[in-house]
Amino acid sequence: MEEKQHVAVIDFGSQYTQLIVRRVRELGYFAKLYPLEEFPHIGEPGAIILSGGPKSTAEPDAPDIDFEGLRRFGVPVLGVCYGMQLLNIKFGGSVKSSNRREYGPASLFPKACTGLFEGVSEESQVWMSHSDTVENLPEGAVVIAANQHETPVSIQWGDHFFGIQFHPEVTHSHEGNRILHNFLLFADRLEPFRIDDFKRELIEGIRERVGKRQVVCGVSGGVDSTVLAVLLHEAGVNMRAIFVDHGLMRKDEGEEVRNNFHRMGVPIETVDAEKVFLDSLADVDEPEKKRSIIGNLFIDCFWETVGDAEILAQGTLYPDVIESASNAKSKASKIKTHHNRVDRILEMQAEGKVLEPLAELFKDEVRELGASLGIPHDILHRHPFPGPGLAVRCPGAVTREKLEIIRECDAIFISRLKDHAWYDHVWQAYAALVPVRTVGVKGDERSYEWAISLRAVVSEDAMTADWVELPYSILRETSNRILNEVAGINRVLYDVSTKPPASIEWE
Ligand code: XMP
Repeated sequence: MEEKQHVAVIDFGSQYTQLIVRRVRELGYFAKLYPLEEFPHIGEPGAIILSGGPKSTAEPDAPDIDFEGLRRFGVPVLGVCYGMQLLNIKFGGSVKSSNRREYGPASLFPKACTGLFEGVSEESQVWMSHSDTVENLPEGAVVIAANQHETPVSIQWGDHFFGIQFHPEVTHSHEGNRILHNFLLFADRLEPFRIDDFKRELIEGIRERVGKRQVVCGVSGGVDSTVLAVLLHEAGVNMRAIFVDHGLMRKDEGEEVRNNFHRMGVPIETVDAEKVFLDSLADVDEPEKKRSIIGNLFIDCFWETVGDAEILAQGTLYPDVIESASNAKSKASKIKTHHNRVDRILEMQAEGKVLEPLAELFKDEVRELGASLGIPHDILHRHPFPGPGLAVRCPGAVTREKLEIIRECDAIFISRLKDHAWYDHVWQAYAALVPVRTVGVKGDERSYEWAISLRAVVSEDAMTADWVELPYSILRETSNRILNEVAGINRVLYDVSTKPPASIEWE
């Protein structure tokens, strides 16, 4: 019965496929992504969506689908971009190949304001990303929407097969969600998506995949690895959760992480590695070099503790997957690859020993899953904290003295935000040391001390960010407390830089 209710999204290789799944879940229906190779073994779906893809239907190795198998399901089918072109061919029409790519906004002109386009406005912006276009329609097919040049951009074949040339799943298609919603109304067996059902599926999948083998899971106290560890614990697999304390954590953070896991009832082991990290970082001021030292030491510590792990669990999320796949050649992704995909991990992955159960999810979905696992709100809504810790908030050489100053200033700033109910309105906030000494007056004495920079940003995905207009009263209170309480600081700055061109961290 349960199998009849999901929406099956078949992946033809578009970079947006997972977004379709996410949109369907947002609309309140259970959706599952299937690689094309698995078709038609997709359970008994209530609706099927064929995604876009990078190939042309004219290419000899163009992805194909078992059309009779598809029709046998007898449920509404929506072809998006490549999916629409493929359906048109399957129904007996044709597609015109082109080397010219249409990429960007177009205007949508529905032929009727019922069915797929019910409630969708004339000239609504939709987002295109394609080269080929539908040429001849088979008998009985109907154009149900065109663009501003009268080119068909949506077709209906029979009463439950639909195609759209544009991508409803991207936010640039302004009424894309409404169009997807209208499509799903053609299905009559869809039940609401419940995070608890999803959690159960994940847990069953983990048990099946892991069996009796031992799983090792690195925890940092951050949202993703915490949700992962609790999920594995809930699945009852044989797990060791390891917390490497590299000495670059914030004030009392190691203790906080241990307490948090204690109150969630999930045992963790701590590796105290402060000395080896700080000794290795002494006199290193080049940011890339710091990252490389930290990344490698992290893995060394981890492996020394766990020995031969049978399965390594990682809290990789979907945006991490897209980023490393689409930017494989870029410098930025190399930095990331260095942390999540070092050689030893890649080798394990090739042997099928890496488990990434959250790889289909976005951050807000992970938080929702975490809430359904009973993880307290304060843990799920912690601000992001970088893997290399305070080393990326301490430009120049990292010393114990500087780390201590950063910890104290950061703790004051964060406590002010919490007390004034600003913490949850800010995406990320912290203090970073500005490694410049300037002259000041403390008491009646000359001081020659560092400056501290406070930063608070809002962001959706960390790719761009804006600084937060915190009330002056909070800045004043924070500054007063830092200048009075923290030795070694005689100047407090508030960072009013957007990203780009600045980045969120100060490294
Ligand atoms: P930037 O400074 O690049 O940071 O604007 C964007 C977001 O990523 C976080 N960040 C990291 N997170 N490992 C992580 O897990 C890292 O090496 C790392 N570097 C930056 C940063 O805190 C911000 O949220």
